[in-house]
Amino acid sequence: MLLKILVLYALLNIVYSASEHPILLIVSYDAFKYNFFDTKLVPNMERIRKNGTYSDYLINVFPTKTFPNHHSIATGLYPEVHGVIGNSYFDQDRSTLQKMGKDMFSYNKGVVPIWRLNEDSGKGRYSGSMMWPGAVFPYQGKNITYRQDFDSKIDWYKRIDTVITWLTDPYKPANLVMLYIEEPDTHAHALGPHSQTVLQLLRDLDNITLYLKEQLEKHKLADKANVIHLSDHGLVGVKPTNFINITQYMKNGTYNMADSSPVLQIYPKKGYQQKIYDSLKAGSQKNGHFKVYLKKDFPKQWHYKKSTRSPPILVMSDVGYAMDDLIESAPLYAKAYNFTLTNNSEFGVHGYETNVTEMRPFFMARGPKIKVGHKVAPFHTVDLFNLFTKILEIPHLPNNGSMGNIVEILTEKPASHTFGSILVVTAVGVLIAVLIVSAAASIALAIVKRQQTIATAAALNKRFPQTFVRNDAVEVQHLLEPEDA
Ligand SMILES: *[C@@H]1O[C@H](CO)[C@@H](O)[C@H](O)[C@H]1NC(C)=O
Ligand SMILES: *[C@@H]1O[C@H](CO)[C@@H](O)[C@H](O)[C@H]1NC(C)=O
Ligand SMILES: *[C@@H]1O[C@H](CO)[C@@H](O)[C@H](O)[C@H]1NC(C)=O
Ligand SMILES: *[C@@H]1O[C@H](CO)[C@@H](O)[C@H](O)[C@H]1NC(C)=O
Ligand SMILES: *[C@@H]1O[C@H](CO)[C@@H](O)[C@H](O)[C@H]1NC(C)=O
Ligand SMILES: *[C@@H]1O[C@H](CO)[C@@H](O)[C@H](O)[C@H]1NC(C)=O
Ligand SMILES: *[C@@H]1O[C@H](CO)[C@@H](O)[C@H](O)[C@H]1NC(C)=O
Ligand SMILES: *[C@@H]1O[C@H](CO)[C@@H](O)[C@H](O)[C@H]1NC(C)=O
Ligand SMILES: *[C@@H]1O[C@H](CO)[C@@H](O)[C@H](O)[C@H]1NC(C)=O
Ligand SMILES: [Zn+2]
Repeated sequence: MLLKILVLYALLNIVYSASEHPILLIVSYDAFKYNFFDTKLVPNMERIRKNGTYSDYLINVFPTKTFPNHHSIATGLYPEVHGVIGNSYFDQDRSTLQKMGKDMFSYNKGVVPIWRLNEDSGKGRYSGSMMWPGAVFPYQGKNITYRQDFDSKIDWYKRIDTVITWLTDPYKPANLVMLYIEEPDTHAHALGPHSQTVLQLLRDLDNITLYLKEQLEKHKLADKANVIHLSDHGLVGVKPTNFINITQYMKNGTYNMADSSPVLQIYPKKGYQQKIYDSLKAGSQKNGHFKVYLKKDFPKQWHYKKSTRSPPILVMSDVGYAMDDLIESAPLYAKAYNFTLTNNSEFGVHGYETNVTEMRPFFMARGPKIKVGHKVAPFHTVDLFNLFTKILEIPHLPNNGSMGNIVEILTEKPASHTFGSILVVTAVGVLIAVLIVSAAASIALAIVKRQQTIATAAALNKRFPQTFVRNDAVEVQHLLEPEDA
């Protein structure tokens, strides 16, 4: 009888191992606009929202693009501080256009993203990134334990399965995982936010939140894991009649240009700055649907000036307008997505200022440290870092967020020791007994456990040969094209 109990206990221990540290899972759905809930196509997400804590929207960072915003979520810093100032930028020293890559994320050596801080905050803390932009690179000279670079071919269910193996690893269970999903962004760029394809994608995304919830329950993680669902930005539909040719105002060969509509970074060649600015300014007055800024005039609330990467000139089209890059990519989208380009075709665009309603992302969270059935006032993307450190119980680092906005999300600390002393003594006694029993069981079944791990790793490798397990990852550089992000 005793042996039976021991074996049963040990088996449960094997199947359901999890970190003893607070567990946090952050899921980002690229370009999931704050009001996509109004479509009524996401009932499972709606249920999570109502059963946890949510805000009507988040106030993101400028430009409302994918890489700057994901890095601000991960660091609590403005783009001018972490240096990811766009989905691409022009490196003036080396005279090269920089896209997604290690250089983009290594502007400021002092930046400590949440995944690095978690691992550095104590023994037994392991971080994982399933395709989170920038998390595959080393910070403070170290890679995180689990990381998978972006690969659109790995489907969402497999991503979740892999994340579950990280969270339940018997030796190095992850207690922080960042999970990235590239939709609805990718299809919304090509087909517009109102397309049937995008609406269907919302249903698919809703289904994976259900799948994630089921998998957490199945692995006895549902009561332990704090899960935050959020996005980086929304997007707005733009039609070809609102495309603006701004390169007509600049002489070929006198400048370099980076990023994509609606914010183009202009880097004039030596001696051409004034000429280009004057010409663009005149064009802006004539056309009336785009603005031109010199670096010194960037609005303070952009927090976009104090970086050596900040462009000398920035051109921004009005909401609902786009520029040359979309003039060029529209026919390519039509070809790749098999539609006929007309003046009524709609494309998805984001990057405008953070006060533009359509650019707003969403936020919702559930878990043991999150209030139930609660709504908080909209807060800033840069505040999230403080929420993460609180949930993970790790030290706070200086950042651009505030604590005041996020304390409302967290459950109060449980009142200490309201039990009678007899009850406490009894509980301690029971705990000691359980520890002795579990120690014995662990030793007895160490061999079983080892075999199980080997089998799991082998099965995983067979199923997803691209999956990187632990530090023996081979880095493959997948470039997200700016127009796809
Ligand atoms: C949400 O909470 C309600 C009430 O506590 C519960 O009945 C329901 O099952 C919960 N839904 C989910 C999806 O957990
Ligand atoms: C939706 O998710 C459930 C499990 O969570 C799965 O069984 C089902 O196949 C999924 N549906 C689609 C259309 O992917
Ligand atoms: C599309 O719009 C442009 C600019 O407004 C116009 O010149 C052109 O004639 C339109 N094309 C069609 C097919 O309507
Ligand atoms: C913009 O106009 C210029 C001058 O007319 C032309 O050379 C260029 O090809 C146009 N750009 C695009 C993207 O159509
Ligand atoms: C612009 O200049 C580059 C070389 O600097 C040249 O390759 C390109 O063809 C030129 N484009 C146009 C539209 O004149
Ligand atoms: C593209 O659309 C045409 C017409 O609707 C259809 O016949 C063709 O099969 C489609 N091709 C692809 C690759 O979807
Ligand atoms: C957003 O802020 C800018 C200043 O940075 C202002 O010019 C613009 O009118 C504001 N837009 C909205 C929609 O409030
Ligand atoms: C943002 O945070 C960084 C790091 O603490 C700091 O150096 C910078 O001054 C802050 N920026 C603002 C606008 O508060
Ligand atoms: C991080 O991992 C990559 C492979 O993914 C490897 O090339 C690199 O050397 C590692 N860096 C460090 C500091 O361990
Ligand atoms: Zn995005």
